[in-house]
Amino acid sequence: MSRFYLTTPIYYVNAEPHLGHAYTTIVGDALARWHRLLGDDVKYVTGTDEHGLKIQQAAEAAGVTPQEFTDEIAPKFAAAWERLNISNDDFIRTTEPRHKAAVAELLQRCYDAGDIELDTFAGKYCVACEEYYADDELVTIDGVADCCPIHQRPVEYFEEENWFFRLSRFEDRLLDWYAAHPTALTPEHRGNEAIGLIKSGLRDFSISRTSLEWGIPLPWDPKHVTYVWFDALTNYLAAVGFGDGTDGYRDWWPVDYHLIGKDIVRQHCVYWPAMLMSAGVDLPKGWAIGGWLLSGGEKMSKTSGNVVDPLDLIDEVGLDGFRYYVLADTAYGNDGDFSIEGFTSRYNSDLANNLGNLLARVATVVAKKCNGTGTAPNPDSALAADAATAYADSAAQWDAVQPSKALDATWQLVRATNAHLEANEPWKAEPGPGVDAVMGDALEALRIVAVLVHPAMPDTAQAIWERIGLPGEVVDQRLPDAAAWGQYSPGAPVTKGDALFPRLT
Ligand code: MSP
Repeated sequence: MSRFYLTTPIYYVNAEPHLGHAYTTIVGDALARWHRLLGDDVKYVTGTDEHGLKIQQAAEAAGVTPQEFTDEIAPKFAAAWERLNISNDDFIRTTEPRHKAAVAELLQRCYDAGDIELDTFAGKYCVACEEYYADDELVTIDGVADCCPIHQRPVEYFEEENWFFRLSRFEDRLLDWYAAHPTALTPEHRGNEAIGLIKSGLRDFSISRTSLEWGIPLPWDPKHVTYVWFDALTNYLAAVGFGDGTDGYRDWWPVDYHLIGKDIVRQHCVYWPAMLMSAGVDLPKGWAIGGWLLSGGEKMSKTSGNVVDPLDLIDEVGLDGFRYYVLADTAYGNDGDFSIEGFTSRYNSDLANNLGNLLARVATVVAKKCNGTGTAPNPDSALAADAATAYADSAAQWDAVQPSKALDATWQLVRATNAHLEANEPWKAEPGPGVDAVMGDALEALRIVAVLVHPAMPDTAQAIWERIGLPGEVVDQRLPDAAAWGQYSPGAPVTKGDALFPRLT
């Protein structure tokens, strides 16, 4: 059995979970579920990033200690993921002892390698990014100079004696490594941006702060706390036991994919591999870089005030419809624009009119013409080839971390099955072997569709499974076997039930 280790970014707890966070977490969940269907031993980890100035300031504004503050917000992330049916295997908080141990270990290794040195630093810092900026990276907004290019608000001037990670030493090593691992960064256009960052020259970055207390002390100089990005990135190792005094983390490391947003490429694709090289730890196998979910053309974020609360939304539109929309509407890597109109139109076309309608039609005809009992598929059905293609194409797209394309490949089978029914019009025919054969094919196609949609819509997959009378759980099916044509067991009771996806107006 192969292992598959997958991570999301760990989210800052200065804001409550919003659609932007939900987006990456749902992509990760679908990918994790796909790999479980393949029989992989999966570890899917998410969590919260709880140290740093941004959190300290948010706690001060709320009139509580940073620990109280993070203890209040972190569970809201965990609860949101539960509500969104996220199947994470672990939830890591950077305030946990296991994480602090991993950070101390990684720091010490880089320090012992001679890649962390003391220096004085003066520069312009964006607290929202927790990042220093060079003058030529800053922008002028409404006549105000020196604004952060991401948050579009003024940066602050900081001067500190800091410990520096000698990133500049890693330029060639990183470029060589990426050249030797050309598929590590996906999709390609996002990967090229990361390579471009390295080629444009690397500056050493400070990995400690004396100006705040809310962080992990450096093992060799405890009046400094660890820079929040050095701290946060280490969660990926901490979650598999790095720093526990054993080499057990190697059972899971290197990670198969880090899912990240395009705004945190520098830290993940430049800083992080250099830190790992310095520490003598293997580099990740892959990074899958997503775009942003925009709302009215802007990144949805606490700072912009245009956040959509995913939990409010699913109360209105249903969980699986929401998950499907988020996965299907935007090619991973591109920006997507979230709107209720966009949601409604995709829901109506793909879910209400296509998948929902297919299930309803099949159940209705089976009730009327086959005594409510499922019939056998034809081994030579034309749909068998459509099913094989749907599986092969969706497998390739999940493998490439392209959920929208994987779902599109699955929907080719849904469409082909509807077309098969329309071509044969079993609702007009007399009951008998002809109708039985057409319906057996449709039921078998629905069985395969149920398995293939499970990663995106686990509850819907199970509902389809049960309505076509199959025993057990979709989650226990194993691919590729479960996608092979001809397994639907005739004689199963088919039930109609309410519409899976009532049309929205
Ligand atoms: N704490 C850091 C990550 C540390 S990982 C070692 C952080 N947190 S964040 O909460 O601000 O953002 C986490 C991720 O959520 C980023 O990848 C970011 O791109 C993603 N998103 C936040 N808002 C988003 C959208 N509106 N759309 C899509 N993703 C967005 O950065």
